[in-house]
Amino acid sequence: MKKRKRMRILMVCLGNICRSPIAEGVLKAKAAAAGLDWNIESAGTEKYHIGKPPHQFSQKICTTHGIDISEQRARRFTPADLTGYDLVYAMADDVLDQVRRISGPNADYSHVKLFLDELEPGSGKSVPDPWYGDEAGYIGVYDMIAACCDAVIKNHSPAAAQTT
Ligand code: 4NP
Repeated sequence: MKKRKRMRILMVCLGNICRSPIAEGVLKAKAAAAGLDWNIESAGTEKYHIGKPPHQFSQKICTTHGIDISEQRARRFTPADLTGYDLVYAMADDVLDQVRRISGPNADYSHVKLFLDELEPGSGKSVPDPWYGDEAGYIGVYDMIAACCDAVIKNHSPAAAQTT
């Protein structure tokens, strides 16, 4: 039997310290629980936090759900990331704009989408940026991301492909 190609997914936000690290950690946990051997990573479009671990409140809400993201380190999104992944999810519309700015007008964006479009197709919604808010914001962001990760699993697992 032909071995199925390992799916590669990149989560992208601005700083790679608040939203996309949660998305990486949660989707890794959900994919593993579903028996899916997916390669899931994250990056940020800005350079401010390169090399830093996730924000303390991102780590805390993930720990509450049994997910350890403390080993993650922020890295910057590069144009090469567009060809290195099968799916690239932008956490928000400004992130999508930055991905396009970094990668240029001639790149292939067919596999790049707003993350929440996976849960609500065509909604154009963004995961709010919790950076300037308090801890409660990170809890809301976690819930939103977790629900959307369920949708990613549902929409892209081989089982889903067989039934649709
Ligand atoms: P993130 O949040 O994009 O979810 O990692 C942010 C983190 C830092 C900044 C902005 C957003 N910042 O301006 O430093």
